[in-house]
Order: sequence, then C-alpha cells, then structure tokens
Amino acid sequence: MDQSELTVCFYDVFDASLPRLGPGDDLSTQKAISLLRAAKPERMNPPGPLGLKILDLGCGNGAQTIQLAKHLDGTIVAVDNHEQYLTELRRRAVAQGVSDKIHTCLDDMRDFTKREERFDLIWSEGAVYFMGFAEGLAACRKLLVPGGLMAASELTWFRPDPPAECREYFAGVYPPMVDSAANLATVENCGYEVLGYFALPESAWLESFYRPIENRLRSLQEKYAADRAGSETVESIRKEVDIYRKYSSWYGYVFYLMQSR
Ligand SMILES: C[S@@+](CC[C@H](N)C(=O)[O-])C[C@H]1O[C@@H](n2cnc3c(N)ncnc32)[C@H](O)[C@@H]1O
Repeated sequence: MDQSELTVCFYDVFDASLPRLGPGDDLSTQKAISLLRAAKPERMNPPGPLGLKILDLGCGNGAQTIQLAKHLDGTIVAVDNHEQYLTELRRRAVAQGVSDKIHTCLDDMRDFTKREERFDLIWSEGAVYFMGFAEGLAACRKLLVPGGLMAASELTWFRPDPPAECREYFAGVYPPMVDSAANLATVENCGYEVLGYFALPESAWLESFYRPIENRLRSLQEKYAADRAGSETVESIRKEVDIYRKYSSWYGYVFYLMQSR
C-alpha cells in the first residue's frame, strides 16, 4: 500500500459523515465562547452591522463552525485542506440555516496563515498542532487585529509520571505534548495574554468522537482484513481509542483562550 492508499484508508475511518473529527462537543465550544465574552465583552460584541470577522482553522466537517455561527454575530472563514469535509460543512450550514455566515476555504493552514487578511477572532479545535502549538499560535497572531482573540484546544498532560504504556505511546505519536503550565507559558511567549483555560470533559472524547469512530472501525475491519497496511491503519486508530479509555485521567484536550498583546 503506498501513501495515497494509506490516506484513502485514513479518510475511510475519519469520514466526513462522522459527527465531528476531533475531541470536542457543542457545550465546550459554547463554554469557550462564554468565557471569552465574559473576559472581553466589547471584543466579542463589536458595534456596527458587520460583527466579528472569524477564522476557523482546521474546521473539519464544521461541528464547531456551526456553533460559532449560531452564537456569534459576524462571518466565519472555515479553512481545511480536505475538500470532503468542507462539502459536508456547507451541507450542515444550509440545514442549520447559517450558511450565509460561513465561507469555506480549501487551503493548507500553513499557507493560509501567510495571507494579509486580518481577523477579530481565530478558532481552532484540535488542529493548531498540525503547525506545532507554538508555531501555530505565532502564525495566527499575525492574522489577528491588534487585541484580537484566539481559542485553541491542544492535547495536554493532566498529571506527571503517566504509566509506561501511555508515556511510550505518546512518545511515538505526539512527543511535543506538555502540561497546561507549559502550554500557558507558550501562549504568553507567543505574544498573548491568557484569558482562561479548561479541560474538555471525557464525554467530548467518547460520545462525540470515539464511539462513532469505533462503529466505523467495526465495519472497516472486514473491508481491510486482507489488506495488511489498511488493517494496520485500522488497528493504530483502535489503539488510540484504547489508550484513551485506559489513561484518560492522565491526558486530554485543554481549551486555551487568549488575547493578542
Ligand atoms: C482533529 S481534526 C479537527 C476538526 C474539527 N476542528 C473538529 O474538532 O471536529 C483536524 C482537522 O485539521 C485538518 N487539517 C490537517 N492538516 C491541515 C492543514 N495542513 N491545513 C488545513 N487543515 C488541516 C484536517 O483535515 C481535519 O479536518
């Protein structure tokens, strides 16, 4: 199986029809909006008819984009590098009656963040890490108006000294993972003031994300049974879910809320 076939298998699991494509849920998105609104009411409710200019980076199939559109005044540019996710996002936006507020953009976030455009608010759930947390925050800061706001969720250690199996797993799949104190220092070092942070609940992993994935894995196991690389991809995703089920008290996603200084 070459790289393109592996990609086919990956997107077969992470299909656009899933409820969402990373840990998160509507209540956590709404909580992040509320915390930003409480911290910076004048920024979240700008005067004038246009409202906020919002960027949703790594939007996937748009679970959080729809929430932003429902709960904030303004327009959203939703960026992802996988066309099928954007197609599904547009379908959902129409179904939810918010399509006039959302513009999709098929682009690599590394290229998009070099644009000259400016945004009042940048949102990124489970996606900044594709650029590196620090590199992504720094790149996003250049896209913000002075004093602009950002909300990003990032994989974070909750406790020191995780069991060997958990530590070794993440040494393989995500070595840059650090604790919230280190991530908060990164936020500050990238030129932001921290406005708040909170951990996503376990339900945001299991109910909204992993359970639907497990259902897909069950059917895809058969499809890729005779295909060594395909079944390895399926197994590696199953392993990710198993690790979370065993070690969710050691790590999770933390939502970091910040303002450009
Ligand atoms: C973990 S998913 C999160 C999606 C969505 N924010 C959510 O929480 O459901 C990461 C998303 O980032 C997108 N992505 C990955 N690398 C990217 C890149 N270089 N440029 C743009 N999007 C990217 C993927 O296609 C995927 O939709």
